[in-house]
Amino acid sequence: MAAPLKVAVLISGRGSNLQALIDAFGPKVADSPVKIVLVLSNRPDALGLERAAKAGLKTEIVDHKAFQSREDFDVAIDREIRAAGAEFVVLAGFMRLLTPQFVTAWKDKLINIHPALLPSFPGLHTHRRALEASVRFHGATVHFVRNDTDSGPIIAQSLVAVRPDDTEESLGARVLETEHRLYPLAVRLIAEGHVRVEGERAVVSGLTRYPENVLLNPMLLMA
Ligand code: GRF
Repeated sequence: MAAPLKVAVLISGRGSNLQALIDAFGPKVADSPVKIVLVLSNRPDALGLERAAKAGLKTEIVDHKAFQSREDFDVAIDREIRAAGAEFVVLAGFMRLLTPQFVTAWKDKLINIHPALLPSFPGLHTHRRALEASVRFHGATVHFVRNDTDSGPIIAQSLVAVRPDDTEESLGARVLETEHRLYPLAVRLIAEGHVRVEGERAVVSGLTRYPENVLLNPMLLMA
């Protein structure tokens, strides 16, 4: 078996996606294609740090408030990521904009999960905006990171049907539940060599199963 892909996971808060990655690839998992070598938070109070420590993972806090500029902060996190031996960076609810220098240095080795079907609804409050737009499908996207916020080649997406009675909370909860399956899947596809970037497209190859290709929402079920 090939050596596992060494990843750093960057967080700022709750860390439920980190937990999904720990469950899929953590120290207790035999023959994992991924090794989480570092969990780094810019916030000392991030709940995800406790999840990481409980799993026995190395953690670092690099508090952005201690830095004069974004450039200085990004130099500091880059140093920690490299010192831990990471070769790939996974953003999991990391709420800092990264500088072009950092994004370029980690080009095609830096991914993010966003709670919307990009390129729709980049930015914040995605569930509220999806309901306001009365979209019938919503979801989450894993993508390589580029300089524009929430842009970059799309690797994988999850689809959630919007229900007539959905609130921001109910819709967000269903999307989050799909994120916890989507992110480990996308990271595994990368670690196992199924994903490459061609031009500005992420190409997934070598799979043997594909999803059904038609979904309708709403549906009318006749008795
Ligand atoms: C998720 O909704 C993710 O899509 C977004 O930030 C949230 C992080 O949640 N980027 P958690 O910290 O993983 O629980």
